[in-house]
Amino acid sequence: MINKDKKKLKVLITGGAGFIGSHVVRLFVTKYPDYEIVNLDALTYAGNLENLKDIENAPNYTFVKGDILDTELINNLFEKYEFDAVIHLAAESHVDRSISDPLAFVKTNVIGTMNLLNAAKKIWIDTPPSGEGGLEEKLFYHISTDEVYGTLGESGLFTEETPYAPNSPYSASKASSDHFVRAYGETYGLPYVVSNCSNNYGPNQFPEKLIPLFIHNILQKNPLPVYGDGNYTRDWLFVIDHAEAIDRIFHHSEKNKTYNVGGFNEWKNIDLVKLLCRVMDKKLGREEGSSEKLITYVKDRPGHDLRYAIDASRINNELGWKPSVTFEEGLEKTIDWYLENETWLKSVTSGAYQDYYKKQYKST
Ligand code: NAD
Ligand code: TYD
Repeated sequence: MINKDKKKLKVLITGGAGFIGSHVVRLFVTKYPDYEIVNLDALTYAGNLENLKDIENAPNYTFVKGDILDTELINNLFEKYEFDAVIHLAAESHVDRSISDPLAFVKTNVIGTMNLLNAAKKIWIDTPPSGEGGLEEKLFYHISTDEVYGTLGESGLFTEETPYAPNSPYSASKASSDHFVRAYGETYGLPYVVSNCSNNYGPNQFPEKLIPLFIHNILQKNPLPVYGDGNYTRDWLFVIDHAEAIDRIFHHSEKNKTYNVGGFNEWKNIDLVKLLCRVMDKKLGREEGSSEKLITYVKDRPGHDLRYAIDASRINNELGWKPSVTFEEGLEKTIDWYLENETWLKSVTSGAYQDYYKKQYKST
């Protein structure tokens, strides 16, 4: 595992211009000024350098625009920087998009991950440069999702031992990449960690996911398209708490372990949407109940998982990590951020995104 005493760790973070990645990059760049952080991101529709404006000139930070499907670029980066560790977040991440274009998810999430694993194996195992730190001081940290476990019924929690049973092309592609990471550990001895986190929310999330999409629509007085009967349950974690969990796992996990990350915070979609409406009405000075009138039940998502809920006991007990905010606090911070950053919201909701939204919105 990584050598915590080595001050000048060189860390490749992929997908650092996206939602979660931008919070991880900011945390590592500011908390570890001696580390050298390289952020590799293709800047797809979900990647945005505005998310990292405040740290773009930090001396320990480098941004590289590039695709994890570009093997030559990745091999060159590994040769140039001789990374000690990779934190891999780059992915196609939206279930609805995976239903309309599954192959894009196989390419980035499976083949892209394979390319990174191969590059790490090449430089850490096949032809290691002579220098300080052997294989035992390297780490491939793969960021995954609780969706790989499939769906729960009305009770129970996902533990690290729950068998994988992905139901969407997105979760199938993430499950596949998790398996390859594990296989590289077993077959080639690549030191790895995987964490499977529940639904994140917070600043910088692209407004195609439930919370930012609905904040955007409430602001615009657009319909709030609730899929099916709205009785689907998700377990929500504030993104900055997830970034802190990643930091904790990165520095303290034993090799080849997995951790489930979540805040024991389950919400039925319809209850969450009503809470969001109430808080936004207050903040916007609108009449109580006015945003709830925007709720529109629409055609359900195919293969819609009923319920996700994480048992986070392992990370709580072994690494002492716990979320720092309650859901109500996190949601308020999130809404405030979107209200203060309406230009960000406007810039990412113009053009192609508008067409995408209109296609999604079908009344039952
Ligand atoms: P996101 O869609 O906001 O960001 C993904 C980032 O990856 C973007 O910056 C994008 O430009 C980049 N990217 C996409 N394809 C790429 C490619 N081929 N090469 C290089 N960069 C590419 O995603 P997110 O919500 O921040 O999720 C980050 C990771 O966390 C993903 O692996 C996701 O599966 C996982 N995760 C997300 C959640 C969640 O609730 N959002 C929960 C658990 C796990
Ligand atoms: P989403 O944010 O897409 O995350 P995930 O599918 O990865 O859990 O969706 C969260 C929940 O909200 C999920 O049950 C689907 C539902 N949902 C809607 O009801 N309407 C919407 O417009 C969206 C985007 C999601």
